[in-house]
Amino acid sequence: MEKSKICKIVIAAVAVALATVGLTGVISGGDVMYHLRNRGSLGPLTRDDIEYQNIDAPEATSQDGTINAADWAEAYPYIVATMGDNDKNSYVVDYLEQDPYLVNIYEGYGFAKDYGSARGHNYTLEDVAKTQRPHPKANCLTCKTPNFAKLVNDQGVGVYSMPFEEVMALMEENISCYTCHGNDAGKAGALVITHSYVNKALGDNASAIDPATLSCGQCHIEYYFTREDSETMMPYHDVESMTPEAILAYYDGIDFYDWVQESTGTKLLKAQHPEMETFLQGKHAALLNCADCHMPMEQADDGTVYHSHLLVSPLENETLLSNCATCHGDTDMVTMVRRLQSRVTARETEVGNKLSDMKDALAEAVASGKRTEAELEALRKLHREAQWFFDFCYVENSEGAHNSELSMSCLDIAEAKIDEAMALLAK
Ligand code: HEC
Ligand code: HEC
Ligand code: HEC
Ligand code: HEC
Repeated sequence: MEKSKICKIVIAAVAVALATVGLTGVISGGDVMYHLRNRGSLGPLTRDDIEYQNIDAPEATSQDGTINAADWAEAYPYIVATMGDNDKNSYVVDYLEQDPYLVNIYEGYGFAKDYGSARGHNYTLEDVAKTQRPHPKANCLTCKTPNFAKLVNDQGVGVYSMPFEEVMALMEENISCYTCHGNDAGKAGALVITHSYVNKALGDNASAIDPATLSCGQCHIEYYFTREDSETMMPYHDVESMTPEAILAYYDGIDFYDWVQESTGTKLLKAQHPEMETFLQGKHAALLNCADCHMPMEQADDGTVYHSHLLVSPLENETLLSNCATCHGDTDMVTMVRRLQSRVTARETEVGNKLSDMKDALAEAVASGKRTEAELEALRKLHREAQWFFDFCYVENSEGAHNSELSMSCLDIAEAKIDEAMALLAK
């Protein structure tokens, strides 16, 4: 064999070995690729088993013309029942109690006062009504109810800056059929983007995203409120710009910040819940959609096959776990994912505490009056960036399961910026 060929083979072998070593203890890469090439369709049931119906939409009983879950109950009893089961997901973790450093890094912002974990879709209106975070405007209802999306669709973006209480009084349902299907669920369960900002931000690029991912990506994303009319908006125009780096550049470009922190003077950003962005940069992006892992297919006693609309963790559902096996073979997925999550969580705690210390040191430097304005501005820039990268990972709800590489890299970048700021502060 000629030398260059051997050389290429050796390089390829080393690359494969490195890729495998990189995932040691987490996953055996070769195994996955083997199953990926040789797998059949997902799980015991597939979309081919569903009898998609084309039926006339029932009469809407709501005030605003959205066809609600009760209206669809006769046509889709199992889907309506399983969507109702989302109230079973009611467990909440108090993040401020769990990670006390958050109170310090979010100083001056609502999240320092009240920050609990998310729970099921059936609690959205209850939770937004009782949060201790200030919410003067109606734009807080964007991701809570189909009635708000309908109001924007009917009356335009002026609705976003209406007083919260006034609009809240008009809201009838938590997240429901209209949110993801418009009034078209009867058309073979067609998915419809009802949140207008998604189409505004992405335009034709929306078609690059699987509808069963973008449907969730109407809300499980990073977003901001525009300065002009408090409209909810996504900070990018295509999938390539959904990285934390590109989003930061977008915010820098429009001089956007969520609040100016009093003690440090830093113009800080609060990331929201970038599940779609994180997932789309990950290893499953081209292979699966959100429904594949969070909406198990089920078969009722009468034979009806449907997607359960109870959104669950795949680690707590046998059907979904069996889907994983079509590519991951007999890897124990629960152990694999939990291990990966605990590594991400441990790093979060480490970097979060460092960030909190850096914020204190910066606040001290500001108070001392010994630094020039230029020095302080350089420090504030590092502070803004470190907090952004930390937050992008912290607030993502899968704790590393969607894309552990991205989660870890965000924390590494945050730490590097913290270290750089601390070195400047030590001078
Ligand atoms: C269609 C095939 C396929 C299915 C189904 C699948 N995976 Fe994967 N998964 C992959 C591939 C490919 C990789 C990348 C492996 C590599 O890089 O060696 C991967 C990697 C992963 C990783 C590591 C990713 C990271 O960012 O660290 C996790 C965690 C994971 N899968 C969890 C799951 C879970 C949980 C399920 C089921 C709910 C599942 N996968 C179903 C193909 C699949
Ligand atoms: C949070 C978004 C969301 C909500 C809310 C929602 N759906 Fe769905 N629905 C989906 C997704 C995603 C699918 C699966 C599409 C796919 O990948 O095949 C789906 C599938 C369907 C289908 C096709 C059949 C099937 O089982 O896949 C029907 C019919 C349907 N939904 C009706 C409803 C009705 C009726 C409601 C209200 C009771 C509702 N949906 C609420 C997202 C939603
Ligand atoms: C209209 C906005 C919206 C859409 C669309 C949406 N979600 Fe949600 N989702 C939320 C909100 C808001 C919460 C938190 C509710 C609370 O805590 O009161 C949530 C909570 C969840 C939770 C529970 C989180 C936890 O920690 O227990 C899961 C899982 C989930 N969503 C998955 C999905 C999936 C999968 C889709 C797409 C099929 C989807 N969501 C579509 C807004 C949305
Ligand atoms: C490969 C399977 C897979 C895909 C595809 C996937 N997720 Fe997840 N997701 C997971 C796993 C695994 C967890 C961690 C569950 C746990 O900790 O019990 C998770 C956690 C979550 C959570 C936190 C709630 C919980 O139960 O822990 C939300 C919200 C969520 N995913 C939304 C989404 C959205 C939105 C999409 C699409 C943009 C998506 N997921 C795509 C596997 C997946």
